[in-house]
Amino acid sequence: MRVTGSLSEFQELRQALNGRVGAVYTMGALHVGHLSLLSHAREENDAVVATLFVNPKQFARNEDLSRYPRTLESDLQKFERAGVDLVLTPSPEMMYPPGFQTRVDVKIVSQGLEGERRPDHFTGVVTVVAKLFNLTHPDRAYFGQKDAQQVVVIRQMARDLNFPVEIIVCPTVRETDGLAMSSRNVFLTPEQRQAAAVLYGALQAAGGAYDQGEHVPAHLIEAVQDVIAAEPLAEIDYIALNDPRTLSPIHQMTNLPVLLSLSVRFGATRLLDNCLLPLSLNNLIDLTRLLGV
Ligand code: PAJ
Repeated sequence: MRVTGSLSEFQELRQALNGRVGAVYTMGALHVGHLSLLSHAREENDAVVATLFVNPKQFARNEDLSRYPRTLESDLQKFERAGVDLVLTPSPEMMYPPGFQTRVDVKIVSQGLEGERRPDHFTGVVTVVAKLFNLTHPDRAYFGQKDAQQVVVIRQMARDLNFPVEIIVCPTVRETDGLAMSSRNVFLTPEQRQAAAVLYGALQAAGGAYDQGEHVPAHLIEAVQDVIAAEPLAEIDYIALNDPRTLSPIHQMTNLPVLLSLSVRFGATRLLDNCLLPLSLNNLIDLTRLLGV
């Protein structure tokens, strides 16, 4: 495995890779969720490139950029064990040198849900991912369902700007009690950590109701609310039902697949989770068909 912080050296090493290339982009603090993206990339391609860059442009001033966990040495070991061929670890100064002045904005799909709470967040994400596509030239890029809106926004950018890349969406990897893995979970107290399993319980409850024929949006949202309300440490930020392809809110009863997203606070930490309904769609092929490609 070759590791470099230099963009020009990376580009030379990338050119020397043969065959189909899969890419995984990360901000480090790698956990099993990241490893699952890497393992799909390794299985389906001749070579794998990964990037580790805590992108300042996607953090607002009040957010946790300086607190973001940084574990470079163990991350590199994990990349190596996952069979990565080439890793880029650029500095913010290299990615955004003095005079940098371009931003990539996706209008509609970045507006609701997280976009409403974090203005400019998706501009930061999409700008860096456009740069990373240009630096890594992947045939396939792997993203997690965990950040469902992120992958829809990136897919839109890739289509609009003609990036010749296939966007693959890998299912959310969870702890044994169902909590979605996230680098932000370390900020939870032990009590909050235990309580946070309620999110998965709530998604499962809605999934169960959906399978029993409950397709009225307000009733599905109530099913989620009821489960979360039983956990005193949880404070609901939003529960939303959207069309997975367009992210338009769903108000009418529908038999088409829907994306159920949650944002719930535990003290100062806001956790996200989501699933497709019916629950049988939460696999790589259906997720990629509905949210990626
Ligand atoms: P980061 O939070 O490090 O996540 C990197 C990738 O791992 C993303 O595609 C994310 O959706 C995926 N991921 C995170 N938790 C996961 C889980 N529990 N199961 C499956 N996949 C999971 O997302 C970012 O970084 C950044 O915004 C980035 C795309 C790198 C741009 O800066």
